[in-house]
Amino acid sequence: MNRWRWPAVGLFSAAAAVGAVGALPRVLADEPAPSAYAAGAAVFQTNCVVCHGAKGQGQPGLAPPLTVYPSHYITSPEGRRQLAMTVLYGMYGDISVEGQHYNFRMPNFARLDDGALATVLNYVVFDMAHATPEAKPIQPEEIAAERAQSLGGDAVRVHRAALVTALGL
Ligand code: HEC
Repeated sequence: MNRWRWPAVGLFSAAAAVGAVGALPRVLADEPAPSAYAAGAAVFQTNCVVCHGAKGQGQPGLAPPLTVYPSHYITSPEGRRQLAMTVLYGMYGDISVEGQHYNFRMPNFARLDDGALATVLNYVVFDMAHATPEAKPIQPEEIAAERAQSLGGDAVRVHRAALVTALGL
């Protein structure tokens, strides 16, 4: 009986070895193009992934997905402000994204500098939400312009409510 097993195992490992070698160039070819916002990806991994998930998919009832709305926000001045305000001041209270409700607390990230906040937002907008490449990336100056207000996360949510209505979201 073993006579039949050994050749089968041998064949399997040979096939696996050939497969592995053969697969190498394909694996490299399938890798996504490197992001223009690699620094933003790193900031996201460290600060945001725990709530929003590795692909920005969010968590039902807790943290909203970042895969759609940010690509709309980036197209309007108030939307760009909204993105900056959300990371600078956080946000809390009930919101809805594509008809789903979320109600938890987004902490503020004012401790991160303007460049780090701009790049993490660009990573969200362009790599996660796939905004049109014609959209203008957020500049560190736009973050700086929103700093040093006495805004709370509730005010950020009120600003968001007007924005989503204006954008028809
Ligand atoms: C502790 C969990 C948590 C962390 C960490 C977190 N967020 Fe959030 N985020 C939330 C929650 C919760 C909301 C929605 C707040 C609400 O319900 O009012 C939110 C909302 C947002 C929004 C607004 C989405 C919309 O539709 O308007 C953006 C943009 C965002 N987060 C980006 C980030 C970025 C970038 C980071 C990292 C720098 C981050 N978040 C870290 C929980 C988190």
